[in-house]
Amino acid sequence: MEQTDVSSIDRLILDETFEMDMKEIRSLGYHTVDIMVDYLNNIRHRPIFPSKTYQEMIQLISEPLPYDAKDPHEILEDCHQKINANSLQIGHPRLLGWMLTSGTPISAFADAIASLLNQNVSVSGCTAATTVELLVINWIKQIIDYDPEAAGILVSGGSLANLTALTVARNNEADVDISSQGMNQKRNNMIIYVSEEVHFCILKAVMILGIGTQNIRWLRTDKHHCLDIHDLQTKIKEDLALGKHPFCVVATAGTVNTGAIDPLDAIADICQEYNLWFHVDAAYGGFAALSKTFKPYLKGIERADSIVLDPHKWLFISYEAGCVLVKNKTLLKKTFTMDAPYIHLKKNDSEKDEEVNFSDYGIQLSRQFRALKIWMSLKQYGIQRYQHMIEQNIHLAHYLSALIYESNDFQQAAPIGLSTICFQYFPADLLQDYKKKNESEKEKINEYINKLNQVIIERMHYDKRALLSSTILGEQFVIRACIMNYRTTKQDIKNILDITRELGRTADKKLRNITS
Ligand SMILES: Cc1ncc(COP(=O)(O)O)c(C=O)c1O
Repeated sequence: MEQTDVSSIDRLILDETFEMDMKEIRSLGYHTVDIMVDYLNNIRHRPIFPSKTYQEMIQLISEPLPYDAKDPHEILEDCHQKINANSLQIGHPRLLGWMLTSGTPISAFADAIASLLNQNVSVSGCTAATTVELLVINWIKQIIDYDPEAAGILVSGGSLANLTALTVARNNEADVDISSQGMNQKRNNMIIYVSEEVHFCILKAVMILGIGTQNIRWLRTDKHHCLDIHDLQTKIKEDLALGKHPFCVVATAGTVNTGAIDPLDAIADICQEYNLWFHVDAAYGGFAALSKTFKPYLKGIERADSIVLDPHKWLFISYEAGCVLVKNKTLLKKTFTMDAPYIHLKKNDSEKDEEVNFSDYGIQLSRQFRALKIWMSLKQYGIQRYQHMIEQNIHLAHYLSALIYESNDFQQAAPIGLSTICFQYFPADLLQDYKKKNESEKEKINEYINKLNQVIIERMHYDKRALLSSTILGEQFVIRACIMNYRTTKQDIKNILDITRELGRTADKKLRNITS
């Protein structure tokens, strides 16, 4: 390319700017807040599940690539009418499906400020944001009594956090240098032990890391859906005898299906005995440690080599906020540190040592300022109110269980795990006689109950007054409620059960051709 002279390039530079008038920014801000308040004010009264199908949504929002500028107030209104109104009402007090939390309002404001500051929390100079993240990570370590020297990083969620932790586990437990030689040089398979109830993101991590799903040893669970430690021990011994390389056990504190907590202390003992990496996926249950009553159930978590917790689950933080902790900071940094001359602002070695660069702690380089919303929420409510809220969620699960127990047409399908409860709608006439039936009759009834509950869940999506999810436990199709919502009240729980009953009765009448 030829060298341009100043006057010819000067003519091409327009005096264009994206700057906005401060008054206009303020008015846009007020407009945004009005929309947010309107949204929150009506959240209890909106249909939970959006009415529009994908096709209808595409029709509603499709438009050509915008060429001309538009008034931002119009865009906000458009968003309010088209997007907000047609979103899944996560945060609705009767949405207890999956593991969806209601974000605290201050999380939303914090996100707005974080976006405004636009800190890249891996870059020199983003010291304020880095310090807040370090503080938040220290608070999370304190909540679970973890080693104060442990390192951690905030990531998008549990899936990425588990991948991050298992990368450290794989690299440091391998007997070859995985970073330079890759998995190809491993002669014996690295084996990872997980229970049947593990979240699928662990499988994804195993696939991504080249460990291979055939090197997963699936462990049985007991009647509480917790990992069976005898099976763990047996399988480790078998693998050692076969010359394989057992390297990691994944325990779950709060399984996705039933909220079960694996026997962490006993698993830690086995990991110690066989020198295995002990990883705890506490994405859901980790923050139960905020409750003095429920903290003892997590005993042993502090012995883990790595732990995952999701503030966007039981800290009521808006998406995305996951956290991974690794006990040995050196191993975490050894796994992810990459140096490059274009990264460090301060070139002097001692200054580099002082600087915390989060790109040394994980996969991402550019990172948003996630810590701000956690920092603000924890400060706004304080640990004591968080403790009460988490306990209230758990007590509401027990309340639902008590209502089920006292009813004649519901049946609990698994022990309550934290704030999760699985159950089935079981028409009273079928439930009454069930015990007297022979095995083949029972099998037929069970098949019917599975089908009926499936229909109930499908209908709930159209009904929109409540939303629960489902899962399979053994041979049973069960309805699953996970209470992770600070808006849910006792009355909501009663209503949810009544709505489920109403949908169940209608479906039952139709399926069994009952005319009365
Ligand atoms: C136990 C457990 N681990 C991991 C995950 C995945 O977390 P995320 O959805 O934040 O990626 C979940 C999600 O529900 C979970 O329940």
